[in-house]
Amino acid sequence: MFAREKVELKRVPMMPVRDMVIFPQMMTPFIVGREASVRALEEALAGDKKIFLATQHDASVDDPKPKEIYQVGTLANVVQSVKLPDGNIKVLVEGVERAKIVQLSNEEGFFRATVRLLPVRVEATPQVEQLVARVSGLFDQYAKLSQSLNYDTMVAAVRTEDPARLSDMIAANLPLPVEDKQELLEIFDPLERLARLAEILDFEIEKLNVDRTINTRVKRQMERAQKEYYLNEKLKAIQKELGRGEKSEFDELKRRIEASGMPAEVREKAMQELKRLEMMPPMSAESTVSRNYLDWLLAVPWKKRSREIRDITVAERILEEDHYGLEKIKERILEYLAVRQLVRNPKGSILCFLGPPGVGKTSLAMSIGRATGRKFVRVSLGGVRDEAEVRGHRRTYIGALPGQIIQMMKKAGTVNPVFVLDEVDKMSMDFRGDPSAALMEVLDPELNHCFVDHYLDVEYDLSRVMFICTANVLHTIPQPLQDRMEILRLAGYTDQEKLEIAKRFLVRKQREAAGLSERNILFTDEAILHIVRHYTREAGVRNLEREIGSICRKVARRVVKDGKELVVEVGPDGVAEFLGVMKYRDVWAEKKNEVGLATGLAWTEVGGQVLGTEATLMPGKGRLTLTGKLGDVMQESAQAAMSYVRSRAAHFGLPNDFYRHLDIHVHVPEGAIPKDGPSAGITIATAIVSALTRVPARCDVAMTGEITLRGKVLPIGGVKEKLLAAHRMGLRQVILPKDNEKDLAEIPPEIQAAVAIKFVETMDEVLSLALEQPLPAASVPVVEVSPKFEPVVEKDQGLTN
Ligand SMILES: Nc1ncnc2c1ncn2[C@@H]1O[C@H](COP(=O)(O)OP(=O)(O)OP(=O)(O)O)[C@@H](O)[C@H]1O
Ligand SMILES: [Mg+2]
Repeated sequence: MFAREKVELKRVPMMPVRDMVIFPQMMTPFIVGREASVRALEEALAGDKKIFLATQHDASVDDPKPKEIYQVGTLANVVQSVKLPDGNIKVLVEGVERAKIVQLSNEEGFFRATVRLLPVRVEATPQVEQLVARVSGLFDQYAKLSQSLNYDTMVAAVRTEDPARLSDMIAANLPLPVEDKQELLEIFDPLERLARLAEILDFEIEKLNVDRTINTRVKRQMERAQKEYYLNEKLKAIQKELGRGEKSEFDELKRRIEASGMPAEVREKAMQELKRLEMMPPMSAESTVSRNYLDWLLAVPWKKRSREIRDITVAERILEEDHYGLEKIKERILEYLAVRQLVRNPKGSILCFLGPPGVGKTSLAMSIGRATGRKFVRVSLGGVRDEAEVRGHRRTYIGALPGQIIQMMKKAGTVNPVFVLDEVDKMSMDFRGDPSAALMEVLDPELNHCFVDHYLDVEYDLSRVMFICTANVLHTIPQPLQDRMEILRLAGYTDQEKLEIAKRFLVRKQREAAGLSERNILFTDEAILHIVRHYTREAGVRNLEREIGSICRKVARRVVKDGKELVVEVGPDGVAEFLGVMKYRDVWAEKKNEVGLATGLAWTEVGGQVLGTEATLMPGKGRLTLTGKLGDVMQESAQAAMSYVRSRAAHFGLPNDFYRHLDIHVHVPEGAIPKDGPSAGITIATAIVSALTRVPARCDVAMTGEITLRGKVLPIGGVKEKLLAAHRMGLRQVILPKDNEKDLAEIPPEIQAAVAIKFVETMDEVLSLALEQPLPAASVPVVEVSPKFEPVVEKDQGLTN
């Protein structure tokens, strides 16, 4: 444009301007009113139309002194001037060049200024170009963000590569305070000006960005709040329309919390949660979670309790009504109930019914509920392996729920139900935690008044609940849990007892379930015994009940076909007709005596069992193999039996090193049923001795007992179940350890009459009773086996399995 080579002085009329800074290169319109200014303008118009414009410090001053005017201003051309009707003049000026006042005089009634014009020279170096590009870019960005500038016109206006021009154009167009603009005007060096502009633009862009995010956020929030408000109002209107009244659900919740009878801390927590809920938007996921939680807090019983029946004779009658036999157990239950009545806050023991399936454990527990007038709830712990199933998940998990204990309390609806924990022996533990630990807290009378469910997260008092556990076996229940329970054993039933139970309960139950009247069907005693002996083989009565049920249904079908008057009398033949061929016909006693096969009695999950135990010999190197799913204790007891046999080899007429050339395999059939315990010791020893000496063992003699290395016989558990099983299988002789003689008291007389029981103290006695013939005289070699083997060269490994 113009490039001044040297400094120049110029004397021109001067006009102070208020509130604005005129930049070179700018066309600016403004109104001139002050008399002095009008004079200066006239003077300029009369001359070369040049006028100097400088901003006054304070815009409100009408008659500024020279020192109240900025020293740097702009020399401008007056392009146009129009006289307005009100006497003011509208002018359009075009800035030409910045200049600095050297001297200012006011003699002619207006200012006349002597100004210094400075040389301007800019070389187009790469740095300059870079700076120009940067500032253009920044301005572009700024114009885009800014709402007050018209982007298109602005960007078009500043499209220039001349740094001086560019900087002045931008400075003139930026909405900056007068002081800042003046500062820019006072920078004579265009590059310096550009650099300063870049700073300013950076800062302004940042400001706009922040503004923008805040604005959008505010806007969004306002929109959401408005929407919620609108929806809420609408909801209220709808509810009003539906006649639900003005009363909000929160008031209702509050009322329920107050009426629930929660302890103070829980109520406080519930109220807090309610407050939180009120603040939440009603349809949000968060509020659903909070709502559910409150519902759970309100759903579990806090004070409602069943009126207990305290009359012991009523309890006695009910127990008698529901179950046959079980005298001892019933007595014990009545004692237990009596104590709970006498003691005000009974921290009593927890009952655990232990026994094989189908002997009435669960149904006894139900009877107790009935006998005490309490509600009855039941959880099955079989297969529970996760602590959370007992104690719940924390509320932070999606879909979290309370554990079984709290869920069942909700179901019971009272604080004092009879709570049956079925199958405590079938719980397992893994990485998800140990449910038995949680259960311990439930069952320990010292701890269960402040049981904490992870979901509810408040203390819940379980001390008024009457817990009853049931289990089939004891050894899988963790010891600490066992310590907290009082174990009541229910053994199996004898055939006679089963007959009575069937006559009194099962037939009626199944008849009614099938919709038959008393006249339609009648079972003879022989028929029931026939079912017991030939269609079921169990300690309890579950299968018996099932078979009776299946006969009832078949009769029901006939009744439907032949009319209601049909009368069916079911005898043993009828049973065969309805149920098909006998399921269990072979009775143990009908078997033949065999070498290496001894008859043992075991006590498994399903009650007593008769187990044939086989031993067989093979050429080998002295290995002992055990199969049939034997537990650790049982395996050890087999090893002990083997060691006993080895130590007594001479006595059995065996060479001392007989085992070096043999492998012995012991198998206990029904391989699928897990077996454990030491009580098979004497049976395994008998089978091994029989196999080694080739003397057959008697198949009609059953035995049970633990063996020591010296051949002593130690007592075992489960005598009653084992005798019942022996009897069930038709075995007429049983060998028991001498120390179990005391158990005879609880054996039903009919069993004692039918089974000859021999008590023994040593293995020798066992062998003399269980083997078909006395053992061959000592020193007779084992002819059939040992001579055939080569001597074993390698070192003796001992017997291992
Ligand atoms: N002494 C009895 N008098 C009358 N009914 C009986 C008797 N014993 C068992 N029952 C009946 O036998 C059925 C099975 O009993 P229940 O379900 O209580 O067995 P359980 O011992 O709990 O078995 P599990 O260990 O398999 O759970 C029930 O219908 C029950 O009423
Ligand atoms: Mg049960």
